[in-house]
Amino acid sequence: MSDGPVHPKAATDPRGGRVPVGVLISGRGSNLAALLAACAKPDYPASVAVVLSNNKEAGGLARAREAGVATEVVDHREYPTRHEHERALVEILRRHGVEWVCLAGYQHLLRGAMLEHYRNRILNVHPALLPAFPGNHAQRQAVEYGARVSGCTVHFVDEGVDTGPIILQASVTVDPHDTEETLSERILREEHRLYPEVLRLAASGRLVIEKRKVRIVPETGRPDR
Ligand code: GRF
Repeated sequence: MSDGPVHPKAATDPRGGRVPVGVLISGRGSNLAALLAACAKPDYPASVAVVLSNNKEAGGLARAREAGVATEVVDHREYPTRHEHERALVEILRRHGVEWVCLAGYQHLLRGAMLEHYRNRILNVHPALLPAFPGNHAQRQAVEYGARVSGCTVHFVDEGVDTGPIILQASVTVDPHDTEETLSERILREEHRLYPEVLRLAASGRLVIEKRKVRIVPETGRPDR
């Protein structure tokens, strides 16, 4: 992360005037579906150009195809090194003109070429209020820890595990009777609301990173957050 302010640039797709986005998935793709639904709205500033999965069985691939979006499977196990795998991802994303990348349940760490090429332009959604409960099974961690509040976080991706600058968070009360499943369900509803909201800000060029704090540039006439 550079020390100076970073203004991720909102480029536009010459075809639709919308910022082309690549979504990386590994599983069912409910967050992908929320992003696709947002992108279907007439005033939304982004459009999903391609969906990549490292798992050919990912349910989200069918959701993308139904929406008429290009898909590709890029299985990291078929590449000798992380670098080569990430180079392949970058090559496909660039071919589709992708400017911003959304990780949506993508179960593989990005550390090399992807971060070099798309630094400060990769977003992730995590099902806990970071920095609490990073990593896998965040909802189970919250239930087992006895947390009274959890939620979800949309953040920039850096080299760490769920350590990048936080953009927006939404809280969810944890009921003493919650199981991992019941809590996950309520958190997921917030994820589906929050992720499209953040992508709208990103694609509108309204996110500024200052050190590790994210400032949201106000829309003309509206207060800052
Ligand atoms: C979500 O809970 C997300 O926060 C986490 O992985 C899950 C993906 O779910 N990173 P889906 O594939 O979007 O339905």
